[in-house]
Amino acid sequence: MGLFHGETLARRLPGVRLAAVADPAPPAGLGTRLGGPRVVGEPGEVFADPAIDAVVIAAPARFHTDLVVAAAGAGKAVFCEKPVGITLADLDRAIGAAREAGVALQVGFNRRFAAGWRAARALIDDGSVGTPRLLRSVTRDPGGFDPSRVAPGTIFLETLIHDFDTLRFLNPGAEPVEVYATADALVQPEWRSRGLMDTAVVNIRFDNGAMAVAEACFEASYGYDVRGEVLGSGGMATMGDGRRNGMAFSGPAGRLVETVRGDQELFPEAYTAELAAFVGAVGTGTASPVTGEDARAALAIALAAAESVRAGRPVRIDEVEK
Ligand SMILES: NC(=O)c1ccc[n+]([C@@H]2O[C@H](COP(=O)([O-])OP(=O)(O)OC[C@H]3O[C@@H](n4cnc5c(N)ncnc54)[C@H](O)[C@@H]3O)[C@@H](O)[C@H]2O)c1
Repeated sequence: MGLFHGETLARRLPGVRLAAVADPAPPAGLGTRLGGPRVVGEPGEVFADPAIDAVVIAAPARFHTDLVVAAAGAGKAVFCEKPVGITLADLDRAIGAAREAGVALQVGFNRRFAAGWRAARALIDDGSVGTPRLLRSVTRDPGGFDPSRVAPGTIFLETLIHDFDTLRFLNPGAEPVEVYATADALVQPEWRSRGLMDTAVVNIRFDNGAMAVAEACFEASYGYDVRGEVLGSGGMATMGDGRRNGMAFSGPAGRLVETVRGDQELFPEAYTAELAAFVGAVGTGTASPVTGEDARAALAIALAAAESVRAGRPVRIDEVEK
């Protein structure tokens, strides 16, 4: 992910200069691929550079909170990949650090910037969809993952967290009240006893009465598939059809459409637009469009979902807040 963001900063956003990249184990040729920024091993070296205005954090999730706190403490505006932390205390620390330093903190919920999702939100905002009643958000990864490298809770904390944010985005002003989740290791059943969850369904009830379902599976034989739907009193908006392009081949075997194979193939514009929005917020000193509070709200749903699976019952959001 960091490489794509690095390329965006180096090449896709006029007016931005990618000054430095920190990675303790950088891939070979990283500096050249990114047009020659300084490559260092220690993020602190970047944070200490007074010429740097803002940083993008795309390290593994367990490092995020400390990196956000250190970067904000050094006065840098921060864009952080999801999740910003894995406990609500982490999120409070990150949000507090950014607030105290007076810097922007934006979170990598890229679906908010994808054209279909943006268009749906516009129809919700102008009243066309009416009051949301049923919402759905789906993530299917293409598979090929190494189960030994999947930390417990990943399906909620790193995958479905996008869907939880999306459901809040599509039901603006409402907040989740209760979560009921089931999850299992259906792709790698031999890892079930070690706590792997690779398939999950999460029911969410919102305080405006709307009911939502988020579902994820780490393996879809046909590629990377992300979809959304909101049914309201005025109509329905659907997002995402998994198609690689507008072409369909019709032949003796029927009609064939090609499907998208990976996240960077499906969402290149959204990944670029989220950083463009971050750069805009930093440049103008305005609030970022996806805040630490949004990250915290999505994390609370993820934690409630994990607890629901563990306890085998619905879990209220105020239970995980305690
Ligand atoms: N928004 C999205 O759709 C999306 C997609 C993929 C990944 N991500 C997120 O991006 C983050 C990274 O995921 P990934 O799949 O690219 O991981 P990865 O393991 O492929 O890459 C992580 C990189 O960070 C480096 N690193 C390790 N510790 C570091 C540190 N302390 N400081 C700086 N760099 C460090 C590693 O050497 C590696 O190069 C995760 O939080 C993940 O959830 C988001």
